[in-house]
Amino acid sequence: MISQMLLDARRFEKDSGNRIAGDMRPGFHLTPWCGWMNDPNGFCFYKGQYHMFYQYFPYKSRWDFMHWGHAVSNDLLHWEHIPAALAPDRFYDQDGVFSGSAKELPDGRLLLMYTGVRVEDRSERPFKEIQTQCIAVGDGIDFEKYEKNPVLDERALPAGGSRNDFRDPKIIQLNDGRYAALIANRSADGSGEILLYTSRDGFSWKYETVLVSNRNRFGKMWECPDFFQLDGKYVLLTSPQDMLPQGFEYHSGNGTLCLIGDFDEPNLHFQEEHDQSIDYGIDFYAPQTILTPDGRRVMIGWMQNWDACAIREPEAPWAGQMSLPRELHIKDGRLYQWPIREFDELRHDKVEYHNVEVGEDTLRLDGISGRMVDMELVIRPKDPAESYTKFALHFAEKDDTFTSIRFRPRESTLKIDRKFSGSRRAILHQRRCFVEDAKDELRIRIILDRYSCEVFIDGGRKVMTSALYTEQSADGISFHADGNVVMDIVKYSIL
Ligand code: FRU
Repeated sequence: MISQMLLDARRFEKDSGNRIAGDMRPGFHLTPWCGWMNDPNGFCFYKGQYHMFYQYFPYKSRWDFMHWGHAVSNDLLHWEHIPAALAPDRFYDQDGVFSGSAKELPDGRLLLMYTGVRVEDRSERPFKEIQTQCIAVGDGIDFEKYEKNPVLDERALPAGGSRNDFRDPKIIQLNDGRYAALIANRSADGSGEILLYTSRDGFSWKYETVLVSNRNRFGKMWECPDFFQLDGKYVLLTSPQDMLPQGFEYHSGNGTLCLIGDFDEPNLHFQEEHDQSIDYGIDFYAPQTILTPDGRRVMIGWMQNWDACAIREPEAPWAGQMSLPRELHIKDGRLYQWPIREFDELRHDKVEYHNVEVGEDTLRLDGISGRMVDMELVIRPKDPAESYTKFALHFAEKDDTFTSIRFRPRESTLKIDRKFSGSRRAILHQRRCFVEDAKDELRIRIILDRYSCEVFIDGGRKVMTSALYTEQSADGISFHADGNVVMDIVKYSIL
């Protein structure tokens, strides 16, 4: 039975969502049908289509009682909004249907596992939420919540685990055929851990072990885990809250963490070997991955930062976007990301320049402008013996408004800066990352959509993602340097 609450949400989103048209949305990034979106949920390939569910409050462009919105796609780039999948309409999830994942059952039904949230005592401040894991099963459009929900509650926690921070189940399948769910939990030391549960049928779950403990190394509570095999290694992705900065690797606030290592499956033991940020820009959080039918590991994240949500005006018709789908690989022990190859088919009108000199004077090039653009740059010092001090690219530019990327070869830092993007809010607008070995040659690929930029550095070794809400008439692109730079550029328009 579809609840009245879900029917109301479905009616509302259809009316209100269909009124948001044209360039009010990005060209090729997913936004909510209307209202608010955060984490990707239930990302999967099911019955011949990609499905993306998302944390959703349709009625306002701010976070509130979480629903699951839903969209489908054939190529991960063109999305069609379809009716919301879940509403907070049961006692155990009355305060929110939080993040989770999807898995196709052997009988062809789609199983969703999500976190049900219920505020323990409304008279107490701050509220304490009871978070439990719940199941809903359906045909890819309508889902029935399982009568035995919740399937995991505080009784399934290890000693010291918190029932107030126990969320975001990601279901995977083990090689022996069992399902495993990775679930984030706050541990006795106040930081986070990823718990592992197993199930034979997807409905009845058993606690097994702590897969990874934070031990206060990377922020506090960890959110939204994912875990998969990639290029002979195992990768754990998670999004820590309350990070402290560490050099240029980790920033303060909500961050992203990738642990690469080995997994001894019979003993359910993960051996960490390497840690890094997933994205080094401002807006990227809570990513989920899938394996495509042709075997590629593809990741999509929420292209927003919790601490900088004020970048979006509250009266905006939608808030929150998903990143481009990125194919993942491991090279030299690190995580690499690259836009999925389907994206290349959206490119047209190639404009190319070689050995263009950039110096003191602002440079603009014929055919290089636009807000939906894919651009590859190779930047070298004009005289290999003499390094330049700074190279800057400005985009989404008009008069005094622009967003920039700046590279300082002597410090090996690349900075993204949206301070002049038109935002009137005193929030985070800049991030820097360390770019090794680029003094002689820096290679970057920049993908702009109407409300975002994603910068892939050195073949995808590092990525910086940022949302920007500059008005669309600001479509200038210009180049600047302190010192003498020579640049190759290949630019395409998108759509
Ligand atoms: C991460 C998160 C999740 C939670 C959801 C609530 O962004 O805090 O841990 O399930 O958002 O909307």
